[in-house]
Amino acid sequence: MKPARASLAPRTQRALVAAARAVRKRAHAPYSHFHVGAAVLDERGRVHVGCNVENASYGLTICAERNAIAAAVAAGARRLQAVAVVTETRPPGTPCGACRQVLAEFGGDDLVVLLASPTGPADETQLGALLPRAFRL
Ligand code: THU
Repeated sequence: MKPARASLAPRTQRALVAAARAVRKRAHAPYSHFHVGAAVLDERGRVHVGCNVENASYGLTICAERNAIAAAVAAGARRLQAVAVVTETRPPGTPCGACRQVLAEFGGDDLVVLLASPTGPADETQLGALLPRAFRL
């Protein structure tokens, strides 16, 4: 039976997680040493990536997810189907509250969220589970 919720083809899921794993290696995180990679899948099936970029003035740090979203928008994306986030922790980390709200700008409750460690299978959830009743104008 078809699942009630939106899901990704296994090949697409693997590609998105692989892209997030690869870009995590470029994280600029000399303060926290917590390296994060993110990859978003746009409405045309294109993948855009981002990593966290920290700053000596700590509050200027930008999360991997928001950098991936900014890259997607700059490339012409208007909607996002999915995001993969990779952290070194097991179980993998989840997007922070600010990033959840920024994801909500570009997708609905059914936006697929893949959470992964550097190796092993990804955990699949959806934005609506991470940010119920998101703020929307
Ligand atoms: N970080 C992300 O890149 N994404 C998140 O959703 C949570 C936190 C980064 C910010 C900072 O560089 C490091 O992880 C530790 O907070």
